[in-house]
Order: sequence, then C-alpha cells, then structure tokens
Amino acid sequence: MKYAIAAVALTVIPASVWFFNTDQMRTMMPADNTTDIEVIATTTSKYDNINVKTIERRENEGRSLMSVAFPVTENDSINTILEVQANEFIAEFERVATEQEELYQDYLAETGTVANSAVANFIQHFDVSFANKKYLSIVFDRYISTGGTGNESTFAIIFNRQTGEGIPLAEVFSSEKYLTELSNIAREKLYQRTETLAQALDGTELAIKEYIERSKETINNGTEPTPENFDGMFISDDGTLTITFDKYQVGAGSEGLVSIEIHLEEIADLLAPEVRDIFSIAPPTPVPVKVPASVQPQVTSGVDCDIAKCVALTFDDGPSVYTATLLDTLDKYNVPATFFVLGRSSQIQPDTITRIVADGHELGNHTWDHKDLRTLSDADIDAQLQRTDDLIESIVGVRPQYLRPPYGAINNVVRSYVDVPIVLWTVDPEDWKRPPHDELIRRMTQPVKSGYIILAHDIHQPTVAAVPEVIAALQAEGYTFVTVSDILRQPLVPGQAYRQR
Ligand code: NI
Repeated sequence: MKYAIAAVALTVIPASVWFFNTDQMRTMMPADNTTDIEVIATTTSKYDNINVKTIERRENEGRSLMSVAFPVTENDSINTILEVQANEFIAEFERVATEQEELYQDYLAETGTVANSAVANFIQHFDVSFANKKYLSIVFDRYISTGGTGNESTFAIIFNRQTGEGIPLAEVFSSEKYLTELSNIAREKLYQRTETLAQALDGTELAIKEYIERSKETINNGTEPTPENFDGMFISDDGTLTITFDKYQVGAGSEGLVSIEIHLEEIADLLAPEVRDIFSIAPPTPVPVKVPASVQPQVTSGVDCDIAKCVALTFDDGPSVYTATLLDTLDKYNVPATFFVLGRSSQIQPDTITRIVADGHELGNHTWDHKDLRTLSDADIDAQLQRTDDLIESIVGVRPQYLRPPYGAINNVVRSYVDVPIVLWTVDPEDWKRPPHDELIRRMTQPVKSGYIILAHDIHQPTVAAVPEVIAALQAEGYTFVTVSDILRQPLVPGQAYRQR
C-alpha cells in the first residue's frame, strides 16, 4: 500500500498549546467541511505593540489544513521579514497539499477507503521569549504532517526593534568559539538526560548500556557545532538560554522536540557585552595569565655587539598561522628574534604571544591593524598604539618596549604619541613580493653587515621556510643573532627612530 493515511491517526495539537487565543478564528470557521476557506484574523497579544496575525486555510474538503500565526510589530522592516517567512511556509503548504491530495485521490480510487482526517496539516505558532524596548526575540514552532506522519521543528529570531534588523545568533555571542562551547555544554546535559532516561528502562544491563551508547552517538551527531544544529536557540527574559533540538535530532522520534536550558551566567564569557547588559550579567573575570619569571621589558642575551658580529632578525605583521613553525625553527637553532606584532592578530592568538616571550624573543608594537599612522586622527593614532600595548600587557604582563610603525611611516604628529623608541630596519628583502626561494635568501643575507636589522614577515610561509637557510648562511659568516635590545646601543630615546647599531 503506497498510502497509509487511514491507518495512522493524525496527531492533534490540543488547544492548550496555542500561545494565543484562537477562539475568534474558530467561530469564523463554517460548520460544514465542503468549501475551501481562508480566514485571516489579527488579535492583540499580552505584549505591548505586538499583535498576532493568523492565516487559516481549509482546502480539499478539510483534508488540507493550515494555520500560520506570526507577530505584527510596530516596525515595518520586522513585519516584512516575518511576512516573507510566513508566505514561504504557506507556499510550501500549497505545494504539499496538492501533492498529498493527488496521492489520496489515487488511493481512494484504488481502495475506496475514505480519509477521516487531514492528509496535509501545516501549523506555525510562536511565542515571544523576550521583549524590551530594543530587542524582540520570537520563537517559532512548526508542525508539519503529511499523510499522517507529523514532524515538529523550532527556530528563533532576535530582532533589533529600532533598526528592524534580525540579529544573527552569532552576534549575540562575542566569542568565535560559541558553537563549540555550546556543543560541549549541550552534550553534557543531554548525556545526563540519557542516563536518567536509562534508569527508568526495563532491561538487562547490557541492553541499557547499548541504549546509552546509541543515544550518545545520536547526541554527538545532532550537536556537532554547526549553525544549523543550533538554530533553535532563544533567550527568555529570566536570563535563560534555551536550545531546542528538532525531532530526531538528538533522540528518538517519540521524544519529539528536546530542549535544554543554560543560565546565561554560565556562559558569560561567550556573550556579547550588549547581551550581558540586558540581563545584568557581570563580565567574566579574566583568567590570570602566567608570566614566565624570566620576562624583562628588554630581552638581552649579554652579547657585546661592539665586539661580536651581530645581526637582528625582526618579523612583522604577525602572529599568524606560520609563527609556530618559525618559533620551532628559532628554537632549533637557538636564535633569538624580535616580533613586531599587530594587536588584532595577537588578540586571536594570545598563546603565540605567550610563547614568543617564553621562548626568549622580544616583542614590539606594530599597531592594532596596520594603518598608516600619518593618515589617522590624533585619537585614532593614540588608540592604535595604546590598545595594542594594553592587550599585550594583558597577555604577558609587560608592555612592548619598541614601536615599528607600519610602512615605517612616521611624522611629528605620530611621534608625539610615541613613548618608546621607534625601530626601523637596515635590510628589506621585500619578502612580501614573494621572490623565488634562493633570491629571498640572497636578499636576506648578502647586504648584511654587523649591527644591521633585517626586516621580514612571519605572515608569509615562504619567508618562514627560508629562515633555516638564512640562519645557516649568516652563522657561517660568523654572525651572532641578537634581539633589537642587544643590537641598538642603549640607552635609546623615546620617539626617536633607529635603523641599525
Ligand atoms: Ni607591517
């Protein structure tokens, strides 16, 4: 039998699960089932400035039923988004209703069995999970039944009521790791739930163990840290984040929708500051950073560059994904270097900054995000420098002792904001132009004289790959590698630029 409508009872959504009173619409429905009808009604809700629009359709002698409820707010942009989304659901209903009705008619002709319930039923209702003057969070529940098999799903949208824009969930969170973190928390809670469910099972120890294993596998798949798996999230006005998983997503179909709740305090470190403000959640206390005892504002190796042949390797624009490899190389050859880092990248890779210092290298400030400082306002120049210094201090406990301005670009206005010596370079191999490997090594070694500073970039993989040969070539010529603090004759004057010893 290709069509099983008569055998399966349609799940009826009881009136009590409706979030809003629908009596008004029910009384408008005709008593007989013979005519197709559409009823559109708007009622008030218990929330200020939010009305409920409901569109109900009954087609094919009552075998195709649809009820779609969505909010109507004071903001036209929000309303447009909600209406477009409702219309897509309605279009899907019409497509499925037509298809199911054709199947039913075939089945009727074949067997003479008359359907006693709907063959297509589409329901959308919603609740307001959170509303204040600025934000509105709406949770939608959808129930779709075709041929007697029902499926439920849920999703949430948060709107900014002033701009009318939907806020992607990603913007509710400040940390890029939020999906991974939520996935971990969800798994823990769902495992616990499984253990509790298993207690109630009647079965052998082995059967229960197998049940738990199977459940965990389902949970792991359904909670992979992807946006789709976490599209059913909403925040309630009591400061709870609810994550709702679709039917079958993390459990057996018989369990229907499965929800877990997380108090926002538990994930304070993941939330955007704005969201913390709304729920009066204190910002997380930063984890104290371990600073290696050997860290000094200036990193010196005790080499006297008036006597030894010295050269300083400096790397700009990092940290990057290649910095760890470079640090491995420097460690292998026991060569110190100086890193002029960007604040923006350091924020993403704080561990790399910690390692640079722990490995005995020197750190310098290369501004927050590599702007030509001469083109900025006074406030922005100051911010580019201070923000980077503050961040590095928060990571390793010391402020950079040198500045290297992007492009070496400096003027008197910029200089007036600089309270450390400015370190430029003597040798520029233009590694960012990606010369051939041997040519790059030649450019980084042949112009070198004692007391010179070599400029390179640890954001370029070919540069990092060339460093072992550069070190070997210069060591063969009797050079000792030192930091900037070693190569420049102390004391240095803040705001003054240095290019070599
Ligand atoms: Ni640069």
